[in-house]
Amino acid sequence: MLLTIFVSNKINMAHLFSPLKIKNIELKNRIVVSPMCEYSSEDGFANDWHLVHLGSRAVGGAALIITEAAAVSPEGRISFGDLGIYKDEHIAKLKQITDFAHAHGAHIGTQLAHAGRKASHQQPWLGGKQIPSDQPNGWKSYAPSAIAFTESEEPPLELDKAGIEKIKTDFKTAAARALAAGFDVIELHGAHGYLLHEFLSPASNKRTDEYGGSFENRIRFLLEVIESVQEVWPAENPLFVRISATEWTEGTWTANDSVALAIILKDKGIDVVDCSTGGNIAGVKIALKPGYQVEFAEKVKKESGILTGAVGLITKPHQADEIIQEGEADLIFIAREMLRDPYFPLRAAHELGHEVTWPVQYERAKW
Ligand SMILES: Cc1cc2nc3c(=O)[nH]c(=O)nc-3n(C[C@H](O)[C@H](O)[C@H](O)COP(=O)(O)O)c2cc1C
Repeated sequence: MLLTIFVSNKINMAHLFSPLKIKNIELKNRIVVSPMCEYSSEDGFANDWHLVHLGSRAVGGAALIITEAAAVSPEGRISFGDLGIYKDEHIAKLKQITDFAHAHGAHIGTQLAHAGRKASHQQPWLGGKQIPSDQPNGWKSYAPSAIAFTESEEPPLELDKAGIEKIKTDFKTAAARALAAGFDVIELHGAHGYLLHEFLSPASNKRTDEYGGSFENRIRFLLEVIESVQEVWPAENPLFVRISATEWTEGTWTANDSVALAIILKDKGIDVVDCSTGGNIAGVKIALKPGYQVEFAEKVKKESGILTGAVGLITKPHQADEIIQEGEADLIFIAREMLRDPYFPLRAAHELGHEVTWPVQYERAKW
């Protein structure tokens, strides 16, 4: 009897290649292509770069691919090369990309974003600096408070009520376009010091109205954006939120705040909290090591009961598998290793001894 229980526990044990049903989708494994800005758009339009970049990760066997941050308005772009979802004309190319991903067995989501005070920057390969608002390709940025990210940068304009309402509508319209473009998942970018995160954090939010001060007030904007998105995004479609689970600085946003938020998000119908960290306080040193953010995915998962994604220096199949097996997270988001190897999931399946379907065109290369 004991042996049977032991054996069946083993059989039921989740691993990197076990499927996961989230609302109306079933992910074929736990590997997610983490959002990665390509800074390769003109006026927000996706192009063949995005088709090939995202498409090859679909061919490579990831269960879910999340596009780079897609700006909900032109002024919400980090750079003038960002992907956007602020025009109906953006939908057609995005639809081609989602169709391709679906045809190759992957689900695909988009990350809806507003860069807040981190808008109006050069592409990283041009130096990544802020472009002053009076220079070509520069514009005024907006934030909860008129505090620049670094002292050398032009401060953002503090959002007034009308500005807040406009952004809520921008997220909603963008969500409707995401649906029309065939995305399966929306992830709201509430991390890395961009607008939604700026509202959450006492380091960047010094407002004295109902959007600032207490924890309840600082999370209000995110919750209202979620409600706005939910007006058009069907309840049966998965909705994720990426957060910076800690800012690695005393007296700011903490891991306990993240748990408290996740409990509320779960109640609001959010399916997954994708746990990244940092990005809102300049100069903070993070001690990088393999899986350095997994502990936050684990804490948020265990203390709130919501599904979580782990991200950050997860590069090895066994490492990723162990995180799932140990129940530390439900999904593994992989960014840079996916750039090095779009076929990471196929390689991981081989190394871990799981049989997965290869694209028929590539079958002769199967290990
Ligand atoms: C080129 C590049 C672009 C990125 N763009 C985004 C983005 O658009 N949205 C986001 O939430 N994170 C972005 N990130 C962060 C990644 O999604 C990920 O959280 C981070 O790189 C850590 O994971 P890794 O160690 O697997 O690379 C980006 C990372 C890279 C390398």
